Amino acid sequence: MTLRAELERRLSAALERAGAPPGTPAIVQPATRAGFGDYQANGAMGAAKKLGRPPRELAETALAEADLDDLVAHAEIAGPGFINLTLSDACLGGQLAAFSAEVIAPRPVTDASPRVVVDYSSPNLAKEMHVGHLRSTIIGDAMARILEHTGHAVLRQNHVGDWGTQFGMLLAFMAEMSSNEDTLAHELNDLETFYRHAKERFDADPAFAQRARDTVVRLQRGDPVCLKLWEQFIEVSMQHCEAVYARLGVGLERRHVYAESAYNDDLAQVVADLDTAGLLTESDGAQCVFLDEFKGKDDKPLPLIVQKRDGGYLYATTDLAAIRHRCRNLRADRVLYFVDNRQSLHFRLVFAVARAAGFASEQTRLEHMPFGTMLGENGRPFATRSGGVVRLTELLDEAEHRAYALVTEKNPDLAETKRREIARVVGIGAVKYADLSKHRTSDYVFSWDGMLSFDGNTAPYLQYAYTRVQSLFRRAGIAPGTTDTTISLAEPAERTLALRLVQLPETLEIVVRDGLPHLLCSHLFDIAVAFMAFYEQCPVLTAEDPALRDSRMALAQRTGTALETGLDLLGIATVDRM
Ligand code: ARG
Repeated sequence: MTLRAELERRLSAALERAGAPPGTPAIVQPATRAGFGDYQANGAMGAAKKLGRPPRELAETALAEADLDDLVAHAEIAGPGFINLTLSDACLGGQLAAFSAEVIAPRPVTDASPRVVVDYSSPNLAKEMHVGHLRSTIIGDAMARILEHTGHAVLRQNHVGDWGTQFGMLLAFMAEMSSNEDTLAHELNDLETFYRHAKERFDADPAFAQRARDTVVRLQRGDPVCLKLWEQFIEVSMQHCEAVYARLGVGLERRHVYAESAYNDDLAQVVADLDTAGLLTESDGAQCVFLDEFKGKDDKPLPLIVQKRDGGYLYATTDLAAIRHRCRNLRADRVLYFVDNRQSLHFRLVFAVARAAGFASEQTRLEHMPFGTMLGENGRPFATRSGGVVRLTELLDEAEHRAYALVTEKNPDLAETKRREIARVVGIGAVKYADLSKHRTSDYVFSWDGMLSFDGNTAPYLQYAYTRVQSLFRRAGIAPGTTDTTISLAEPAERTLALRLVQLPETLEIVVRDGLPHLLCSHLFDIAVAFMAFYEQCPVLTAEDPALRDSRMALAQRTGTALETGLDLLGIATVDRM
């Protein structure tokens, strides 16, 4: 249990003993201002209002009832009935002593752990991955790591788009070329160009277009020749994705791929189940579900179409099948979808229909975790100078390239290989962090200068703070292991840093609840800032008293662990020097 949760538990119980109705929350939060202590409890005021009692009196009675001695050194009632709490040094010290082993150690995952499906990345395989897939891939991966760390059984699902009409065009184009294996292999090397060429052919030649359409039908019927071409194409495209995942340090593997095509055999059953549930309506020859709560313009009912007039199924049908699979076979308690906010309506409809049909029970939480668009410095969706899509591989090349120039400028004497390695960690880290540190739902401007700056809330700043810790230990000539030193918190800078360190699990709890990794970024940034202040104000290696020196080294060691663990949870690596 986190400190905050423990305070919440005890103060809520005390409120009840003071006369508040059972279940009244104490509403404990980190204090909004330094002068208010470390935490404040706001629950007494609402409860007092309901009871018709003076709020300060209720707060005082609750405080008198509460047993907080092992945690709190100082408590007072403030304003209309806030309870301000200041942690004791013994409490902070205890948390710091158990820091690596307990406070930020991963929680064990057992059979009883909540099962969370995380649907992320999920690119369409017809084309190469581009910046549009970056946010889902990075944010989803960070969330999967954080959920795992906090004791959830995480089931990663890469719902790749590997089915649909585009593939008819691509396969027909492949078929034309397959007489020459070398040309084909060469063309497939560059999926973007391959797609463009196929499309040009499709637009220019009606006979080819017809072949493309026939190919889809043959593919869907399971024609072995088509299937073979399709498998070949998918394999190449998956390899492209995996190369990007490897560079990004994203933990998606083949076993996490559960493609759209994997649901093909379930689609007829999904529609049949909807029919049995009395949910199906035919409209213009298409099979639709209308739910009362969904109305479009002019109050017209808004349908979810699940089968077209020609018998074909849709993206939504596959998503219904996916929910069924995730609930029944994967036994999910919670399903998170890291998908563009433009698909919000799609998910609202699909979730509602899935519940109505009983594919998901009331207890299963289905949550669309939408994100905004990555913009260029001109405020428009991020694109190449000529307005084309930016390939992820090119973007990552540029990130490493720029970071290399930066590292070389700062550290010209480091060996070339070392500088390359640092550039990789800093460059990729900067791109990921720039994305993760923005509120998930807002659009953000992609700026090389901003993300590679050593000032402010950036990856390089955090990675640099981490190297400062490492250099302390190098200069002291000792390895940064955990020692059971008593940590002195006499200096305000020491105490501020200590508090931010022990509060890290509380932030993780909120990140898990709301799917907002930028909160972890801000917290790590606060830790780094607190460390830099501590480093400036509190002599470490030059401290006269050996006990004080050990204490400060121990605080630095906790800082290093927190930064390394926190960045790792975001999928960002660290280096010892840069
Ligand atoms: N392939 C889709 C796209 O690129 C995203 C899929 C998201 N996941 C899902 N279950 N619909 O837009």
